[in-house]
Parts: sequence; C-alpha cells; structure tokens
Amino acid sequence: MTEYPEAVDRRHTNSVKWDVKDGELPMTIADMDFKTSPAIIEAMKDKLTLGAFGYEDIPAEYFNAVADWYEKQHHFRPQTDWMIFTTGVVPAISSAVRRLTSLGDNVLVQAPVYNIFYNSIVNSGRHVVSSDLVYDVEQHSYSIDWEDLESKLADPLTNLMILCNPHNPVGIIWTRDQLIRLATLCRKYHVKIFSDEIHGDFTFNEQGYVPMFSLPEELIQDLEVAVSPSKTFNVAALHAATVIVPNANLRAQVSRGLNSEELAEPNLMAIPGTIAAYEKGSEWLTAVLDAIQDNRKVVSDFINDQLADVITVVPGQATYLIWLDVRKLTDDSDALAKFIQEKTGLILSAGNIYGGDGHNFLRMNVACPTKTVLSGLDRLARGIAEWQQK
Ligand SMILES: Cc1ncc(COP(=O)(O)O)c(C=O)c1O
Repeated sequence: MTEYPEAVDRRHTNSVKWDVKDGELPMTIADMDFKTSPAIIEAMKDKLTLGAFGYEDIPAEYFNAVADWYEKQHHFRPQTDWMIFTTGVVPAISSAVRRLTSLGDNVLVQAPVYNIFYNSIVNSGRHVVSSDLVYDVEQHSYSIDWEDLESKLADPLTNLMILCNPHNPVGIIWTRDQLIRLATLCRKYHVKIFSDEIHGDFTFNEQGYVPMFSLPEELIQDLEVAVSPSKTFNVAALHAATVIVPNANLRAQVSRGLNSEELAEPNLMAIPGTIAAYEKGSEWLTAVLDAIQDNRKVVSDFINDQLADVITVVPGQATYLIWLDVRKLTDDSDALAKFIQEKTGLILSAGNIYGGDGHNFLRMNVACPTKTVLSGLDRLARGIAEWQQK
C-alpha cells in the first residue's frame, strides 16, 4: 500500500483555497493539501536560525539545482546561463507581455486555458486571441486546429503565444512532434513563445513531458520557458520561479523587463527553498505523484460507476486537476458549480473562467488525501441528483 504524503488542515491559515465557510470543501485553486517536503522545511529552518536576512544574490548553486532537476527528471539539461530568477510564473508572463509585445498587439492562447493568462494580457492593454482547442465528444479528447492556429499566428498583430505545457485545465501533455510543429509555425510568422511549464512535474504517462527548451536549437531562439517549484512542491507562497531563455538577445530583453519591474529579487526563503526542493525533494514528489494517480483513479471509477450517464472524465495525462465534462447536465457549468456548492458545500472550479468550451466542464483538484476526494465525490453525486430534480 502506498505511503501517502502527510496532509495539513489548512483552515484558518490564510490559505486562499481554504478561506471557505465551515463545512465547505474546496477542490479548486491549484495547490495541494499535502505538507511540503521535509527537506524544504529543514532548509527554511536553517535559514531562519541564521537570522541574517539582508539583500541576496542568486548563487550558482541555485541555477545548478534547476539544471540538475531537468536533467534527472526530464532528460535535458538547460544551460545555467539561459536562466533568470523571478518571483513567479504569472509575474514573468505579465512582464513578457509588456516587454515583448506592444500596446494593442494580439497574444495568442489555446482556450480553455489557465484563466490568469487572460488577466496578464488584458491588464497590459493587449488583445487575447484564442485558437481554441477542439473537443471530440466521442473520444473525450482535445486537439489543436492547426489551420486555425496558423491563420491566427499569421496575423501581423500576433507577436506572442502563451503555451501551457502541460496544459491546465485539460491535462494534455504536448508531444515533441506537436511542439516542433508549433515552434516551426511560430518561427515562420515571427511569433515569440512563452511556455508555462509549471505543471511539468505532474505527468502520468511513460515519457513525461517535453520541456520546450529541449527542442532543436533553431526552434528555441524566440522562446521563454518558465518553471517553478511552486506547484511541484506545494510552495506557491515561496514566490520563486526561473525563466529559461536560450537566445542571448531575447534573454537580455526579458531580463531588462524583470529587473525594471522589480521581479528578479528573491525573498529570504526563495533560494534555500528552491535548492532543497530540487536537490532533495524527488522522493517526496514520488509519493505525491502516487497519491494523485490513485486519486485520479478513484474519481474515474466513482464517476464511471455512479454518474456515467451525466458526467465524463476527460482522461488527461498531467496535473492534479481533473476536467469533468458536464454537458449532459448543462452548458453553464458556473450555474452548476454554484448549485453544488449551495446544496453540498463542495466547491469546484467552473470551467467558464478558462474560456473556449469551458462552460461545459468543471475542474476538480485531487491533490489531497483520498478520504477528502471521497467526501467530494459523495457531495458531487448528491448535488447532481438534486440538480436533476430541479
Ligand atoms: C498554468 C499555471 N501557470 C502559473 C500558475 C501560477 O504561477 P505562480 O504562482 O508562480 O505565479 C498556475 C497556478 O495555478 C498555473 O496553473
């Protein structure tokens, strides 16, 4: 039997996810209910004991830890001089939008997609253009409409694409061939790529995911990749991430952007926390991945057994977020999510916020103990039964 990672009661801990009413169960925002790796906690304690918290440089050890992790876990070692420290993936995205595009430009995404991409684009006065992923209702799978994508990349106003690799919320792991095709098209139309790879450590296929910086040299010249321990080790409040930009000119531009927006300075825990995570956290992560994989199966089995006539689990291969097709119940998943919350206390993310066809889906976060998942499923079944009787 799997040794599950320890979970913590996060009520009344300033947790955004757990800021809910008594009795409510949030399976929403993408962080985990598991306590982080003991190695990270140890490193943070050592730092606290030191008691000196002045301004810090980013040591070589930090960049080596990032490179080692990608070499060991993902079979490609990014060069350390391609890397820049930053305070988060979203800050890096917003900075890239501002630095690499002009007011009024288009930034391309693939909806349904992580909702904050939209904020980063719109808040900077750029236009969102989506080449929506196409859902096959029979196969329960998404694909890229390459013709549509090419026509949108060809628009001279489209200068940046934000890719989610692997994809939140639909759980696709892009293959090397798909990434090569995408990067080739972007190169043809002079569109830069920001590849958000924050979910790259949560893959449940044989091969894992393909970091975009591992593509052939000629395809990574207009590329910025962001990685971070924040999802992997459940340390979102660490505010530490790394952007990896192989091309020196682009890297200089990105660096100027991050520095002028004051997004390149670490807080006191960012460096020791990240180094400990990448150097000592792999065993802890294996236990977490086992727990998530088990939970993914618990959800599919339950839904296939009890709710198959109304809900379909989209069989994603990545992330701890499960994408549930509820179109047989409604095409307004926001209304359904609110109804389920009101009747049962279960809080799921309504797919509407991710754009595209998200209004037909709910997103469920299963990075929690199995008993929590079971309670969520029980509430889901009750909520759906009441919805059907409305
Ligand atoms: C795809 C994606 N990118 C970025 C983030 C957040 O990154 P950060 O906390 O480093 O800004 C999330 C969090 O859910 C996410 O799902």
